[in-house]
Amino acid sequence: MKINEKGHLEIGGADCVGLAECFGTPLYVFDEAYIRRMMGVYRDTIEREYAGNGLVLYASKAFACEAIYAIAKQEKIGVDVVSGGELYTALRAGFPAQKIVMHGNNKLPHEICEALDAKIALIVVDSPSEADLIEAEAKKRGMVQDVLLRINPGVEAHTHAYVQTATPDSKFGFSVASGAAEMMTGYLLSKPHLRLHGYHCHIGSQIFEKQSFVLAVEKNLAFMAEMKAKFGFEADALNMGGGFGIWYAEGDAMIGAEGYAEYLKALLSTVKAGCKALGLRLPFVYLEPGRSIVGEAGITLYTVGAVKDIPGVRKYAAVDGGMFENPRYALYQSRYTAVIANRAAEENTELISIAGKCCESGDLIGVDFNLPKVERGDILAVLSTGAYNYSMASNYNRNPIPPAVLVKNGEAEYIVKPQTYEDLVRNDVLPDRLK
Ligand SMILES: Cc1ncc(COP(=O)(O)O)c(C=O)c1O
Repeated sequence: MKINEKGHLEIGGADCVGLAECFGTPLYVFDEAYIRRMMGVYRDTIEREYAGNGLVLYASKAFACEAIYAIAKQEKIGVDVVSGGELYTALRAGFPAQKIVMHGNNKLPHEICEALDAKIALIVVDSPSEADLIEAEAKKRGMVQDVLLRINPGVEAHTHAYVQTATPDSKFGFSVASGAAEMMTGYLLSKPHLRLHGYHCHIGSQIFEKQSFVLAVEKNLAFMAEMKAKFGFEADALNMGGGFGIWYAEGDAMIGAEGYAEYLKALLSTVKAGCKALGLRLPFVYLEPGRSIVGEAGITLYTVGAVKDIPGVRKYAAVDGGMFENPRYALYQSRYTAVIANRAAEENTELISIAGKCCESGDLIGVDFNLPKVERGDILAVLSTGAYNYSMASNYNRNPIPPAVLVKNGEAEYIVKPQTYEDLVRNDVLPDRLK
């Protein structure tokens, strides 16, 4: 991103004010080059540092639409899906099933059937009854399904509590410490229609401490060695999850593509050293980055409407979006950086909180942004909104979900069309007796 000669913010060579004029606001904008660079950097690091014995899986919960699966396919990486809907979208975009891994702490029976019928690479088992369901459905189909077991290594990750997933109290995975992971290993090995391929762990999201990831990998390897000793089972694969932090606002590190490569390199070195020390063969590795691939690649453009100054209290600028298209502040008080795209070079002079248009006091994009004086009609850009924004959007207050455009070399095109009012009522049913 840069500021152009008109003083406007630019992303991927496209003027944000021009984008707002052409496509309207609110608008999600994605920089294609950034996404490809991030997918490529992970892919190439595995190639270079681990002889290609692994696969990057884009965690598509971060941002799912047909175009992103098509890009992942072109970049020759895999994807992780967490619902029948994500699986359907990936397949519809022509994504190869053999590079799809399915997650979820409560996969529905029909989602398991869809995964088996599509012949996806792996299902990550997250409960005993789910193992039974997969076993029964695989048996019906006369097939053996490759699975991973999601384990909880008990690593504390320094991030917001709501996105921690590997603490002892987690709805995800099986605790190593409690013996549940060992019990499940034995259980999965006893199932004739499941083939336990290895283990998965994901310790949380928006984590910067490299050491948390390294520790999780070490604990995984130690557990793999224990299972080898206990069951004679040597895992073929280790899925190290996702979770690398991204820059949202002042105080966050700007890691950059090479920096993320260093994170991955540290994990791969840990795998190599750990396997050597423990007498394990090198597993095929998976990494599941979501946020670090699309987060900083995306921004959201808004038009400022009402500006309200409550003297001595706070100044609000309300935009034409809000929690329906970005619920992250309402969910976790997420921080962001905002820029007035039409006056991007101007000095910041005010502290302004950005409110959405929904009927909730908590409907904010954030509080106390440093900005120049904001006026009705300004185009406001909120940065680092590529991950977990569109994918978490809703139609709250019957607001249409904004469209998304993909920008490349200054050219933009829709990858998600705008919803219309007609889309909002598409599934409504008005029974005759109510007419
Ligand atoms: C199992 C799993 N893998 C990968 C991810 C992606 O994490 P991130 O977007 O932080 O890289 C998540 C996100 O919560 C997850 O639950």
